[in-house]
Amino acid sequence: MMVVNRNLWKAVDAYVTGTIVMPEPALEAALAANSAAGLPSIDVSAPQGKLIHLLARMAGARKALEIGALGGYSTIWLARALPDDGRLITLELNPRNAEVARSNVARAGLESKVEIRTGAALASLPRIEAEGLGPFDFVFIDADKTSNAAYLEWALRLSRPGTAIVVDNVVRDGEVADAASRDPDVIGVRRMFELIAREPRLSATAIQTVGAKGWDGFALAIVKGA
Ligand code: DHB
Ligand code: MG
Repeated sequence: MMVVNRNLWKAVDAYVTGTIVMPEPALEAALAANSAAGLPSIDVSAPQGKLIHLLARMAGARKALEIGALGGYSTIWLARALPDDGRLITLELNPRNAEVARSNVARAGLESKVEIRTGAALASLPRIEAEGLGPFDFVFIDADKTSNAAYLEWALRLSRPGTAIVVDNVVRDGEVADAASRDPDVIGVRRMFELIAREPRLSATAIQTVGAKGWDGFALAIVKGA
């Protein structure tokens, strides 16, 4: 029997990335800049970034919202999915991360499409609503997991029927299924699942992934009524 292990998951990610994902040089440059700046390498993988890109294109997204930019790697994947007059607002707590993300986004030639707002997302989101910047066509949630349910509530507030919502890191090495977990991140993810379960406006699923970033997964949801 074949032994499935992390090295094999990585090898398949490398194969898929080299054959069909084809990340543009600005994405590789962003990862190098993030590493040089000492940012943790907790970005989505290249195949996952391309998945988010493709989902945004499938949704025909023009206006997108990202909660959690880190160094802007997924930001670039997502912004590249939007039309020339599209707009992506991305929220980042850490000003140092946001600076690195700004420089990465500029190197990718996406400055005109991407606005990076620094500060706590739960402070930025009410302002985005007050400024009338919604509704968004596509929302990617990838920030602190403890606030996942609150972020999903905001995604809904800033949505329209048909809005697609994607949430990263919802499987967490399988720990999501452990109702007794004391890990605050797992508890945060489970609260988000419970919110989806009682929210009649959402139709959702979650998909487990393995790859260069280990065993994790995405939740996918659409706002009903389109
Ligand atoms: C962590 C956060 C992420 O968004 C991710 O994709 C992986 C890890 C973290 O906080 O450790
Ligand atoms: Mg993540």
